[in-house]
Amino acid sequence: MYGQRYAWCGNFQEGRCTVRLPGGDYFHITSDGSAAYSGCYRYAGDFKDGYAVVQRHDGKHSHIDAYGNLLHGRWFRDLDVFHKGYARACDSDGWHHVDMIGEPLYAERFKHVEPFYNGEARVEGLDGSLSVVDESGQTLLELRTPSQSHLERLSADMVGLWRTQTIRAAVALGVFEFLPACAKEIERQTRLHSSIGIRLMRGLMELGLVLRDAEGIYHATERGSFLMQRHPLSLAHAARHWGRESHEAWSALIRSLRTGESGFENMHGKNFFDWMQDRPADLQTYHSAMSTYARHDYGGLADAVDYTIHDSVLDAGGGAGELVFALLRSCPRLQATVMDRAEVVEAARPPTDLEGRCRFVAGDLFQQWPVKSDAIILARVLHDWPDSRALRILRRARETTSKGSMLYVIEMVLDDSTGGGGLMDLNMLVMTQGAERTEEQFRDLLAQAGFGMLDVIKTGSVSSVIRARAL
Ligand SMILES: C[S@@+](CC[C@H](N)C(=O)[O-])C[C@H]1O[C@@H](n2cnc3c(N)ncnc32)[C@H](O)[C@@H]1O
Repeated sequence: MYGQRYAWCGNFQEGRCTVRLPGGDYFHITSDGSAAYSGCYRYAGDFKDGYAVVQRHDGKHSHIDAYGNLLHGRWFRDLDVFHKGYARACDSDGWHHVDMIGEPLYAERFKHVEPFYNGEARVEGLDGSLSVVDESGQTLLELRTPSQSHLERLSADMVGLWRTQTIRAAVALGVFEFLPACAKEIERQTRLHSSIGIRLMRGLMELGLVLRDAEGIYHATERGSFLMQRHPLSLAHAARHWGRESHEAWSALIRSLRTGESGFENMHGKNFFDWMQDRPADLQTYHSAMSTYARHDYGGLADAVDYTIHDSVLDAGGGAGELVFALLRSCPRLQATVMDRAEVVEAARPPTDLEGRCRFVAGDLFQQWPVKSDAIILARVLHDWPDSRALRILRRARETTSKGSMLYVIEMVLDDSTGGGGLMDLNMLVMTQGAERTEEQFRDLLAQAGFGMLDVIKTGSVSSVIRARAL
């Protein structure tokens, strides 16, 4: 049919065929062999009813039309083609059904879902139950009861601290760095009391973090490997942060709920960021943890928003710079400035491939900012502060920009219909007296500071991009 040759090709469906290049990238061709659109994907599926699923290089999936245009611009961990107007989709919380604009039909998430047939779908719950639901997610029929009773699940939730502290202890002792090893060797390397090693390893096995082979040697599972320092997405630093500073602050939750104050600040006499100022090891732990989350969560941000309309961006409270590194790599002409506390920028460096395009400057979010910019990013910064302080930051941002400039607030957006984000909101209260916010709360704060909220773009990760323009 055409002269080109590919590493693999699929079958023509609706006038389009999926092909794979020798390098591994996929795209669709038309019947004369030409590309149906510019660009490539990590995977591209068949067209059905006018739309196909494509997977981006960061692993996220969306729907495109026959000309490569995104149908709704929402990105999912996994996605299916449409079946009578609804598609099966999976986000970080589980499987559900979405409509043609990528909107979930209901709030519930499942382990598996089948497509809707005449208004009904069979679904398997995260709790092991099997049922038939209607298009609003309401259960019509129960086919199997949950594998864990409500009492068992609640009991497991109540001892969540067992998990937090076992993980923290294993990481702090360096257990994952010594694997594979037998219990005796782990006891010796980590200086545990004799015969205790096997007890710790049993706990880690129950958590699915290690496996024991026939010779009694413990190996990290794939899940457990995230607790190794050398893992590119290591959660070792996060394990220490959650198990120590955060754990202490949570122990004062009732007082925080009564007073609205931060448990951490009450305990240490200063706010979390001031406390870290002269504790370099804790500062490094915190920023390493933040950098892993940033590398994991911010991969899709460059595709969610077109930053190429800007010459430069200012990432205020940008920490070690992971977010701008991702943006600079996908926007080759963009320049970026990361502003943060002096002790943070002192330790931060751009990677060699981005030298000359990214600079770090010391600046206080609450004082006049040392950099002017027509595009400002505030990523997971406002959630560290109560409304009055968040407003001060936004006013400083407004001073830094001119009318018409763009502000991108990257935050989790609370969902009152599901309670989604509720526990993180409590975490922000106890740690820094901060808060997660609803879309309405963001709109309100932004308006008070002189910004008009344009829209909220979901990115497929826990964070959304709230786009606002300086008025
Ligand atoms: C939750 S972290 C977010 C880091 C990064 N934006 C991200 O999304 O991964 C909050 C950041 O705000 C910075 N920060 C806190 N108080 C600040 C202040 N007064 N001035 C400048 N930066 C501050 C912290 O050092 C930290 O890097």
